[in-house]
Amino acid sequence: MARSFTEITDLTRDEILEVFELCRKMKSGEIAPKPLAGKSAACIFTKPSLRTRISFEVGINELGGNALYVTDKEISIGKRESVHDVARVLSRYVGLIMIRTFAHSDVTGLAKYAEVPVVNGLTDLVHPCQIMGDYFTLLEHRKKDKFRIAYLGDGNNITNSWLNLASLIPIDLVIGTSPETLPDKGLVQKARQNKNSSVLITHDPKEAVKDADVIYTDVWASMGQKDQIKEKENLLHNFQVNTALLSGANPDYVVMHCLPAERGREITDEVMDGPHSVVFDEAENRLHIQKAIMAFLLQQ
Ligand code: CP
Ligand code: NVA
Repeated sequence: MARSFTEITDLTRDEILEVFELCRKMKSGEIAPKPLAGKSAACIFTKPSLRTRISFEVGINELGGNALYVTDKEISIGKRESVHDVARVLSRYVGLIMIRTFAHSDVTGLAKYAEVPVVNGLTDLVHPCQIMGDYFTLLEHRKKDKFRIAYLGDGNNITNSWLNLASLIPIDLVIGTSPETLPDKGLVQKARQNKNSSVLITHDPKEAVKDADVIYTDVWASMGQKDQIKEKENLLHNFQVNTALLSGANPDYVVMHCLPAERGREITDEVMDGPHSVVFDEAENRLHIQKAIMAFLLQQ
């Protein structure tokens, strides 16, 4: 069976480190593998995207392949035909499948039945390529053995992926959110049980940012939840990443956001465009880390 990347914990700690090393070598131009030469890759989107779509299409081309953009209007996974049949049919045409969708079970279902690697480009549960790229960005910006990462805002797919990373890579993860917007309980438990990292959940934004090396935020209402924005705003307004709040962070902190940002809501312009912000490096590294992830999966 092909290896897939449905969430960070599909890899072992050593494999994650191997992907980072591969990413470093590919980004610097030291190596340029073409594992998709002569093949196509299907990129399935049931949600909108700027970064994921373009970085996967460019990355697939740079790995020697041809990227096919498919929307759910055509294939309508699980409705027009079963996840099983979609996986088996696509495996006859393409060398890799990338999918962004709502239900995480559609991605694990594809991975179960496909004969080619399946890569998760975001589900309601997790966004693993994002957090792999973000951690790689941190390694480029700061030389430290362990980072204190303060995630502020909605407990969502980004928070869940930080928890997955924490299960395997030692970090001090602090999640500042309201009692009503907590991340996935099972993933919190798993990250804590694995004992590689500490995981603190607080409802006090000042406590969250104290001594943090990284301040991370994301939109308060994710794709598919935009109708809940007023409710989320009421719950999360104290967690806005702004200059006043950041006075309690480690002076050397970096600010991260997976983007797209809703400027003036979860983050101010001043912070997003300020000297601590590495948001565009994160966006660039989506390309490099995804190329490394695809190359890693295709060499298995
Ligand atoms: N960060 C991210 O996944 O961006 P897109 O939604 O634009 O792909
Ligand atoms: N949590 C956001 C991330 C976007 C990249 C969403 O799911 O919409």
